[in-house]
Amino acid sequence: MQTHQFDAIIVGAGGAGLMAALYASQGGANVAVVSKLYPTRSHTGAALGGIGAALGNLEEDKPLWHMYDTVKGGDYLADQDAVKVLAEEAVDSIIELEHMGLPFDRTPDGRISQRRFGGHTSNFGEKAVRRACHSADRTGHMILQTLYQQCIKNNVRFFDEYQVVDAIMNQGAMVGVVAIQLGTGEFHVFHSKATLFATGGWGRVWQVTSNAHSLTGDGTAILFRRGVPMEDMEFYQFHPTGLYGLGVLLTEGIRGEGGVLLNRHGERFMERYAPNIKDLASRDVVSRSIYLEVREGRGIGNKTYVHLDIRPETVNRYLAEAGETRRIDNAYIAKNLAETLEVCRTYLGVDPLTEPMPVAPTAHYAMGGIPTNVDAEVIMDAGGTIMPGLYAAGECACVSCHGANRLGTNSLVDLVVFGRRGGKKIAEFVKQANLIPLPNNPAEEVQAEFNRIRTSKGSSKPGALRKQMQDSMMDHIGVFREESSMIEGRDKVIELRNSYMNDLTIDDSGSIFNTDLMEAWELGCLLDIAQVTAESAVNRKESRGAHSREDFKNRDDENWLVHTLAFPDETDPYPKSDRKVRLDNTKSVNRSLEAEDKRFAPKERVY
Ligand code: FUM
Repeated sequence: MQTHQFDAIIVGAGGAGLMAALYASQGGANVAVVSKLYPTRSHTGAALGGIGAALGNLEEDKPLWHMYDTVKGGDYLADQDAVKVLAEEAVDSIIELEHMGLPFDRTPDGRISQRRFGGHTSNFGEKAVRRACHSADRTGHMILQTLYQQCIKNNVRFFDEYQVVDAIMNQGAMVGVVAIQLGTGEFHVFHSKATLFATGGWGRVWQVTSNAHSLTGDGTAILFRRGVPMEDMEFYQFHPTGLYGLGVLLTEGIRGEGGVLLNRHGERFMERYAPNIKDLASRDVVSRSIYLEVREGRGIGNKTYVHLDIRPETVNRYLAEAGETRRIDNAYIAKNLAETLEVCRTYLGVDPLTEPMPVAPTAHYAMGGIPTNVDAEVIMDAGGTIMPGLYAAGECACVSCHGANRLGTNSLVDLVVFGRRGGKKIAEFVKQANLIPLPNNPAEEVQAEFNRIRTSKGSSKPGALRKQMQDSMMDHIGVFREESSMIEGRDKVIELRNSYMNDLTIDDSGSIFNTDLMEAWELGCLLDIAQVTAESAVNRKESRGAHSREDFKNRDDENWLVHTLAFPDETDPYPKSDRKVRLDNTKSVNRSLEAEDKRFAPKERVY
């Protein structure tokens, strides 16, 4: 087995990982990025419509208003110290990306163009504001390309198609990771002073998702098995506009450009649910509204979807009604929503220039994850104790700048802002830290787990278990939730996990590019995450943000304005019997903005 040594290992090559790698290397650290994908195929590339920053290029805007929208959008659960960092540092992050060469769209006078997005307003909720900086509807893709070029320029070393499968800890610190080289099946150990996880989300827990097949929550599950808690896992966002039947993302930028949601009567139903900003309410509100329309028989053709209409004649009619002078035409849509046209034409044979798009909510984004402070240092308990050498940023992390529901565009801000802070912190850390030795046989346990999967002679195929898990999570831990149904979902996941541990079988026992083996291992990560999500959801007895309970319909700030931490209640990372999860709700919400300005205090959310 080969062992590699670096000052810093970055696990994952999406926006957060690349930003961290760039800053750590610029700060003098010897950095390697270990990624299961070729970097520019990372899921950051699927973030379409824009990255939010109060540049005020088209109308007045301020970071303070961005903070207000983020706190309100997150249903007051966000840590306000993190929100402040997010909104303030968004501005120079965008300028920095521009200077690195990111091809943002431009205003006629050459400034970065901005569009509207859900929940982003001016003057504390007064009206929708143009805050999302965009590169057509391929913004995330452009961020990836830009950052990857910069990393290459800064001599960051890349280990592409190496899948990290375990975390190595020693003497109370993080000392490296174990990875499998996918092309050969060989195990490698990466030994480092600092390790940052930027492994993205886990949308593949659900049946209908905007997430790529690779989004299996590996990094989060690996750390959980080694005792790192998971924060606020009950809050998982369903994006309102997935392409019906497939879940592929149709950007919120479509509504930002004036697109509207219509039910079977052609009614713009968001006027009823969010009279002020209508289709641009926050995602939790819009997703629930779509479900309610469908439930009340107003879905299209009595099916489970509604229409999203960007046809110029529709949009221009509503713009005129709203007293706006702006008008759009086919050429404008083709330029600004190019990806949208291609996706709809390719996958459904629907041309958005001539017909409305069929849409339904799709599992999209984890607000919860690996708990961190604002410097991306991983924290191990409600008191904020950090584990030396361990960092996380991007979707896998929970610095809790999104609270119970993330605003569109804030994922890209999160990954550049906190990826950058993590990279800077790592550069400082490795200058003064000693390299702690590896424990004996650091890969032994995970190799035994792979051996078990490879040689199991049970009767359950990973594909069949995965489908049952995804169906169950969709039915029981989705947009609307209720106690007995959630318990049924959780128990199903536990049953599936028992089959996974005790009755598995795979077809391919080879070494070279064994996707059968790797998908089976990823399923173990998904099952652990599904169980923690379900346990955390059953535990929270209120409705807040994306966690909407039919049996506790109201937000309960008196008892539940607190974070959830979920711990594995055993030392065995791969228990063969039921995994026990211990829940802790003693981590308080940082309310520093509210302490200075009462407008940030919890109140009813009206859009
Ligand atoms: O709708 C979108 O373009 C998605 C962006 C996001 O999740 O922030």
